[in-house]
Amino acid sequence: MNLDNMYRETILDHNQIPRNKGSLEDPTASVGLLNPTCGDQIRLDVKVVDGQLMDIRFDGQGCAISMASASMMTEAVKGQSVAESLAVAREFKAFLTGTAPHRNLGDLGALEGVAQFPSRIKCATLASNALEQALTQEGMR
Ligand code: FES
Repeated sequence: MNLDNMYRETILDHNQIPRNKGSLEDPTASVGLLNPTCGDQIRLDVKVVDGQLMDIRFDGQGCAISMASASMMTEAVKGQSVAESLAVAREFKAFLTGTAPHRNLGDLGALEGVAQFPSRIKCATLASNALEQALTQEGMR
């Protein structure tokens, strides 16, 4: 299996069996975001305790890339510190826009091909933007 096929399978897998989908009963912050170019939306709940992202859920409607990236993002940051989670979200966006090499982004690395399609970058970064906003809200509490 070549790398493209492997990436495609990873994206399809996250789209078909999304991780951390749903909502939290007791989130400490919650953010809803819209991709204005298509009208797709995501809602992200986070639960932060003592600077750790203890739990995270997402829900929404969107294309395969937006939903797969939300699933991958939640997997990459769940259980991490707030600082580390913010770093993952920011590095993922920098990686997609070609301004940073990617370090260990887990399955998010499968979205590498999106960088060639600027119109899809908004799809791929919807969840990471929501995460940044939720964790920034957290910091202001
Ligand atoms: Fe709407 Fe991708 S087409 S988020």
